[in-house]
Amino acid sequence: MHIHHIAIAVKDLDAALEFYRDALGVTVSKRHTVPAEGVEVAFLPCGETKVELLQPLDPNNGIGRFIEKRGEGIHHLCVQVEDIEATVAQLQTAGARLATEIRAHPDGTRYAFVHPKSTHGVLLELYQPPDLTGFEDL
Ligand code: CO
Repeated sequence: MHIHHIAIAVKDLDAALEFYRDALGVTVSKRHTVPAEGVEVAFLPCGETKVELLQPLDPNNGIGRFIEKRGEGIHHLCVQVEDIEATVAQLQTAGARLATEIRAHPDGTRYAFVHPKSTHGVLLELYQPPDLTGFEDL
């Protein structure tokens, strides 16, 4: 298990890239929209872990409301797991509360969110790439 990405909710992706890419000097590996989640994202690899910048496409969706309520900042932490079903089952047995079902991206990546109430305050994403030999950026 390793930390796949740390996601930061931002109001304006281009403005955020002026800091992370231009001032800090981290390279952007991928930038795309995820219509299912209502966000535009940019991934900036830092070793095995990436910074994921998330800009809401609609101020009224989940990320938009997060920024409205709490301002820009860390939105979630994501750990890559080998078997998401097994991890979810293990967490449910331990009494943890899932914030979402297991969902899939078009490339077959599967993910689910664990509620901050169960993780001591941090929204936690579980992530299983379609093939563990690849590290897909979704
Ligand atoms: Co994420």
